[in-house]
Amino acid sequence: MSLSTAPDSFAPVRTAQHRTYLMCRPEHFTVSYSINPWMVPANPTDTDLAVRQWQTLYDAYVALGHEVLLIDPVPGLPDMVYTANGGFTIDGIAYGPRFRFAERAGEEGPFMDWFAANGFDVVEPVETNEGEGDFLLVGDVILAGTGFRSTGDSHREVGEVFGRDVISLTLTDPRFYHLDTAIAVLDPVQGPGAVEHANIAYLPNAFDAASQAVLAERFPDAIHVSDEDGAVFGLNAASDGLHVFISPRATGFAAQLRERGYEPVPLDLSELLLGGGGIKCCTLELRTGRQNLK
Ligand code: ARG
Repeated sequence: MSLSTAPDSFAPVRTAQHRTYLMCRPEHFTVSYSINPWMVPANPTDTDLAVRQWQTLYDAYVALGHEVLLIDPVPGLPDMVYTANGGFTIDGIAYGPRFRFAERAGEEGPFMDWFAANGFDVVEPVETNEGEGDFLLVGDVILAGTGFRSTGDSHREVGEVFGRDVISLTLTDPRFYHLDTAIAVLDPVQGPGAVEHANIAYLPNAFDAASQAVLAERFPDAIHVSDEDGAVFGLNAASDGLHVFISPRATGFAAQLRERGYEPVPLDLSELLLGGGGIKCCTLELRTGRQNLK
């Protein structure tokens, strides 16, 4: 072996997969109510800064070859920028959201209308659920969060809608009230081999003991993220299998990712954190069911 071989050359080779995302420009972003501990209406917000930071995320996705579709922001719905909560899609089916708090209920119609207008079969939910904020597709299973927003009954419902196994996980720390604030799916590979290669990163302390045990058993190779990196929303990240779009403040997590052959792409969405959201919250993956035909 050549002496010039870099120590990290043993890291696995990662491949970027094409993604299609739904985003919403935060033209009406502000914090006018509080439904999570990050939201303090008395603190000022800067809508222009939110838009500029959001634009850097949009531009990064497009620059790396991903497709980003947009839903029109609606005045009076400042949380609509967090499109991850707008639904959950697999194979051209969109399971609609039903928000826990009245403040966000007005988003349900616009999101379901958007899915219908863009070729998805829309399933109206009966149970309270906040979309991809609490449902994460990993290989062929759905990880589903509960404790603060989506109910256990929605875990049953989402499993029935998509005919997939669901692993229920209970969140216990109010700062990490959605599953996508405590788990990042790194290899959401689709197609043959998807299940064996599925990998995640997570914040163990965000979960109850039973859920920690399930995660440890199911994902023995997962990255365990530190409390410091979790506290800056480091796990609220999007991945295409190679590039991992993360908060620049999550430096430890970035190093863990590099060791394993991923490329962290740091993007600062600090203004949107005032609403309790980060990169993943602003990103809904659209699985149209047509990607395998490309
Ligand atoms: N203010 C929003 C709420 O509390 C933030 C949502 C963040 N979204 C997410 N997918 N974690 O509902």
